[in-house]
Amino acid sequence: MMRTDQGVEQFNRFVSYYIRTQRGVQEKPGLDERMIQLMTQEQALLTREVMLGAEPTFDKLFNPGFTFLNQALAEHYGISGVTGTALQKVGVDDKRGGLLHLGLFQASTSDYAVTSLVKRGITLREQLFCREFGAPVEAEPTEPTFPPRAITTRERWDLVNGEQASGGRCWQCHQYMNDTGASMEHYDATGRYRQQEPAYNYTQFPQMLPIKSSGPFIGVDGTVPIEDVRDISKLIPRNSASLFCVADSYFRFASGNRSDESTAATVKALTDGLKGNGSLPAMLRTLGTSNAFQFKTQRD
Ligand code: HEC
Repeated sequence: MMRTDQGVEQFNRFVSYYIRTQRGVQEKPGLDERMIQLMTQEQALLTREVMLGAEPTFDKLFNPGFTFLNQALAEHYGISGVTGTALQKVGVDDKRGGLLHLGLFQASTSDYAVTSLVKRGITLREQLFCREFGAPVEAEPTEPTFPPRAITTRERWDLVNGEQASGGRCWQCHQYMNDTGASMEHYDATGRYRQQEPAYNYTQFPQMLPIKSSGPFIGVDGTVPIEDVRDISKLIPRNSASLFCVADSYFRFASGNRSDESTAATVKALTDGLKGNGSLPAMLRTLGTSNAFQFKTQRD
């Protein structure tokens, strides 16, 4: 079932749910509907190739070493040498390839004209690591003082809710979002790769500033330094929280129910399978044949 067209399409629907690209992307400056369609197809073709390929693993979904491009999408991404209108499999370096390196994911986690460290950080934390945040109950934030010079988007966010902001009151939550979201700063609000960006306060200080995507990544197993979002992509297939999270999300997606005490053993079996050989078809099979799943779907 899972290696049929229908099974592959269903799995791509899960991917859209898992990385929240199902919420869609709005047209914005530099990103028209045609480009959004191409990015949507890129995700579907990547998922398909991984599921039908020789190594249908969780790792390959994040670090495949290839993606699907036609000339227009390649040019948008700044990749040369791709011609024609049909999307084709293209070998790529670390800057592209995998779920977190899809233009669709990068654009859907951005604001209209600029990137959002908070949106990106929260999406990575909630969707990929299943971390839940309470609603902020803090009193009014302290107005940040902006320095009289050009600042990056990252500096701007850190002034608003970074480590020092509002006397440190924001950081208990935002330490999980700001640096994590900043790992994607090389990708602008339309999913283009960039080495520098216009200053956040460009109208006041018309300058280009270099991107800094590196920083600490706080995980359940401790804090590790990361260069950029590729390092998060490499961490996800080996991290206990993210493996549990994809298993739990898949359970929720496929059964239509949150996992509870009676189904925890099933989610654990899915997680253990991924820890072992990382096989996605095995994850689908394990759930499909589990008592928890058959019982739940019959009951509904
Ligand atoms: C209890 C956790 C928590 C604390 C404490 C907290 N926040 Fe947040 N903050 C969040 C969450 C969660 C979101 C994302 C809400 C969403 O978009 O779903 C958020 C979003 C934001 C956003 C909006 C980002 C966007 O996409 O536009 C701003 C601005 C912000 N917080 C500022 C602050 C400031 C300033 C403080 C400190 C005074 C603070 N926050 C303290 C949890 C927290």
